[in-house]
This record gives sequence, C-alpha cells and structure tokens, in this order.
Amino acid sequence: MSLKSVIRTAVFPVAGRGTRFLPATKASPKEMLPVVDKPLIQYAVEEALAAGATRLVFITGASKRAIEDHFDSDQELEHMLERQGKSDLLNQIRSVLPSYAACIFIRQPAPLGLGHAVLCAQPAVGSEPFFVHLADDLIRSDVPCLKQMAEVYAAKRASVLGVEVVPRRETDKYGIVEVEAERSATSRVRSIVEKPKPAVAPSTLAVVGRYVLTPSIFEHLEKIDRGAGGEIQLTDGIASLMQEEAVYAYRFTGKRYDCGSKLGYLQATVEYALGHPQLGKDFRAYLQTLTRGGRRTARKSAKKRRSRR
Ligand code: G1P
Repeated sequence: MSLKSVIRTAVFPVAGRGTRFLPATKASPKEMLPVVDKPLIQYAVEEALAAGATRLVFITGASKRAIEDHFDSDQELEHMLERQGKSDLLNQIRSVLPSYAACIFIRQPAPLGLGHAVLCAQPAVGSEPFFVHLADDLIRSDVPCLKQMAEVYAAKRASVLGVEVVPRRETDKYGIVEVEAERSATSRVRSIVEKPKPAVAPSTLAVVGRYVLTPSIFEHLEKIDRGAGGEIQLTDGIASLMQEEAVYAYRFTGKRYDCGSKLGYLQATVEYALGHPQLGKDFRAYLQTLTRGGRRTARKSAKKRRSRR
C-alpha cells in the first residue's frame, strides 16, 4: 500500500447509552463490556491499529470516562504489578495502547445520532479519508476487517462500506444498500436507506459497523435534515455523498457478532472463549458436560474414576 493511501485516523462513536444492556450499562459504558478478557472497545482499537490507524478519535458522551481511563497509562497499577513480579500482567496492561498511537476524546454535546457523532470528529480528522468503527459489531477474521477495507480503499480511492447479507426480517435494524453487482465482493452502491421495513427493503445487504469515508462526507452531514428516529443519520449523509462521489460496498471475510444484542454478545463470548489460547481447551470440555451426550460421558468417566479407587 503506498504511503498516500494509508488511512491514519479511526473514529469510534461511543456516545450511545447501551439501553439494551441495562442495568449493566447504567454507570459503565457498553463498549467496556468484556468478551472473555478484553473490552469491546479494545478489540475495536486493535482492529484499527492493525489497519494502519495511529490517531484514534473517540466521540464520547455521559458515563464514558472508563474508556478514557482504559487507554490511559495507570502508573499506580503498573508499580503494584512490578512490585508483585507479575510481569505477564504488566506487559498486557502496557500493551493496551502502543506508544505511537494518539487518543483524542471529543464530547458529543447531545445524542443527535450517528451522523452527528461522525460530524463531531471533523476537527480531529481534517481533510483525509478515515475509518469509522462501531464497537458493537465485533468481527472475527484472519485479516482484520478494517485492513481488508483499507485495501479496497487503496484500489478504488472512494468510500467503502462493510456489508453482509442479513435475514430479510432484520432489514429494519440496519442501513441497507442496493449494489450494482450483488454477487461481487466489492460493488458500487446504487442506493442506501436507513432501517427499511422488510417489505420495502431494496435488498438484504446490510451495512455493519465498518466504514471508510472520504472527508467530503462532512459537508453532506452538515446539510442533511434529521432522518429516521429524528436523528442525523450517517446513512443519509452517505446517500447525499453518493450524488457526487462513488461509494462501494464490500462484503468482508469474517464472522460478525452483534454485541449490541444479548444473544450476539453471548455467542461472541462463547466462541472467543473456545478460541482462547489458555482457556479454550478447558472451556470446550466444560461445554461438553452441559450437553446431553457430554453429561453421559462425564458420568461414565466419574464412574470409572470411582471404580479405580
Ligand atoms: C447503525 C447505523 C446503521 C448500521 C448499523 C450497524 O445503527 O445507523 O445504518 O447498519 O449501525 O450496526 P444502530 O445499530 O446504531 O441503530
């Protein structure tokens, strides 16, 4: 990838209150919910860093201080771990954020929607292309999703939306795109609409929380009216941008977990635990004891153990 096509800035809209996880999210941010041993926002940051971002812009709101603390150094904790000789934990704490990365926190003054949150990032982004990452959508893949999208950007030099096919009954949860070539991994977007009802959705190709946007998006976000839910929608800004610039949809390779829903969050937790280098084996054995066949096997081995005594 040439230097010019490197995307330096990633924007993380983290102002939402996470009402679906109340009361867990009453005083702590939903982005701090852990999947096994890392909070969602750390997976998000790691993905953006892997894609080449070095400037991390968090658009925050009420009750989000824990995110700032998480990415700040904690001298007291580091000294304590040092004194206790816990070098593994110390390394983990220190590697939460590499020293070359800079965090910028911008407060969204009112909950006016995702488009408004992205607009709040303009002073930090300037006139360069940038990533937008929604931490609720956790994507597990060999090549991090934003890295895949950065490569599409390098080839097309245009905005790129991460998309996947969803069941038709769920179109009203997503921005839905209609593309020129539905079967291609990368295809130009013909139209985009926010949360259409299943009966009128132009397709079942949904935008998940990954975007590469050109800086022209800001002019469009400034001029659009409030849309679905009375909010300034990023989808409407993109629809307006498409009048002037090509926008591409990219079907990423990987598995997405909707960690904004309890079921998706639990699915992510189980699958990340199964793949965890230290926990995976024991966790798999434990899960097997919960299934009917597994219980039988567990009972048999307990019997065997007893008869050996
Ligand atoms: C937002 C966007 C929507 C997108 C979705 C992806 O909706 O407005 O277009 O498809 O994220 O997760 P939200 O989930 O914030 O309601």
